[in-house]
Amino acid sequence: MNPLELKTVALSADGQALEILDQTLLPAQVKYLSLTRQEDIFEAIRALRVRGAPAIGVAAAYGLYLAAAQSRAQDADGLLAELRAAKDYLNSSRPTAVNLSWALERMLRTAREARALPVPELKARLRREADAIREEDIAVCRAIGGWGVSLLRPGDGILTHCNAGTLATAQYGTALAPIYTALERGMTDLRVYCDETRPLLQGARLTAFELQCAGVDTTLICDNMASATMAKGKVDLVFVGCDRVCANGDFANKIGTSGVAILARHYGIPFYVCAPSSTIDFGVGCGADIPIEERPPEEVTELWYAHRMAPEGVKVDNPAFDVTDHTLVTGFVTEKGIAYPPFDQAFRALFPG
Ligand code: MRU
Repeated sequence: MNPLELKTVALSADGQALEILDQTLLPAQVKYLSLTRQEDIFEAIRALRVRGAPAIGVAAAYGLYLAAAQSRAQDADGLLAELRAAKDYLNSSRPTAVNLSWALERMLRTAREARALPVPELKARLRREADAIREEDIAVCRAIGGWGVSLLRPGDGILTHCNAGTLATAQYGTALAPIYTALERGMTDLRVYCDETRPLLQGARLTAFELQCAGVDTTLICDNMASATMAKGKVDLVFVGCDRVCANGDFANKIGTSGVAILARHYGIPFYVCAPSSTIDFGVGCGADIPIEERPPEEVTELWYAHRMAPEGVKVDNPAFDVTDHTLVTGFVTEKGIAYPPFDQAFRALFPG
């Protein structure tokens, strides 16, 4: 199976439903869900059926379009009031990835700007905007692949954490995009080490699955094996994704990423963050101000075990993300080019205005 043919998130052909690949079932089952109700879209994002910062942005954009399509409001004011409520509801599903609020805000702005249109045309305009968000995501990921591949040499070993592949985006991925681009260009001898990514195993279930499907030389390691793997000289470069990048280059990504960055610095391995501009939050100055999602303790104690494996009543911390200090980052691979320190200046140069 070519992983790039998987449709992570899209609107159904009849325009009536959000279609997602249910990532909680992978790799055992490739099953698509068709969602129409706001509650079901919220649940799919919250439960990580659709996940990865860009993919949840696209899902939320279609969610807002469906709220509009299903609305019985007779005028733009009524429709806008319903859309504001739907936006707040979907936005509360997950707090860390800025793509969610970015996509919802873009949809609402589109509705505000088009409020003079008759209601049916306003709805059609929102559908086009959600489609544009999805199409742009694919183009942005391809551009990130184009820049990122310039960092790779034949035979390189790449370590990645969590899943920032085609499953985390509309297609192609961010951190895995340079690897897919390399494959397309005939560089077939790359080696990829996937951290399993406790507790939700996005590396083991998703990254290993999609890279193996693509025919990439893929090795799964437990998170606590990254240091030993690096010490053996197997890793030439780290590529990770991100959920929110601050103006100064601090960034949030899946829990465990900051540890990988510290290890990479220790072993002198370049550490690159693949970041679409929709993930850069110029409104947040530094990592301390990023909201970090706290998830249920059961994800740690029982989710992937046949029997609960920790004592009942034990205290559990389950932050879904951590913040990596910008001083540990070699560069940010964006759709417009690679940003090197000082990152605030580099971001402003790549994304003026
Ligand atoms: O909790 P998840 O699985 O949504 O976390 C995903 C990540 O941390 C990804 O690395 C990030 O969203 C970038 S996806 C291109």
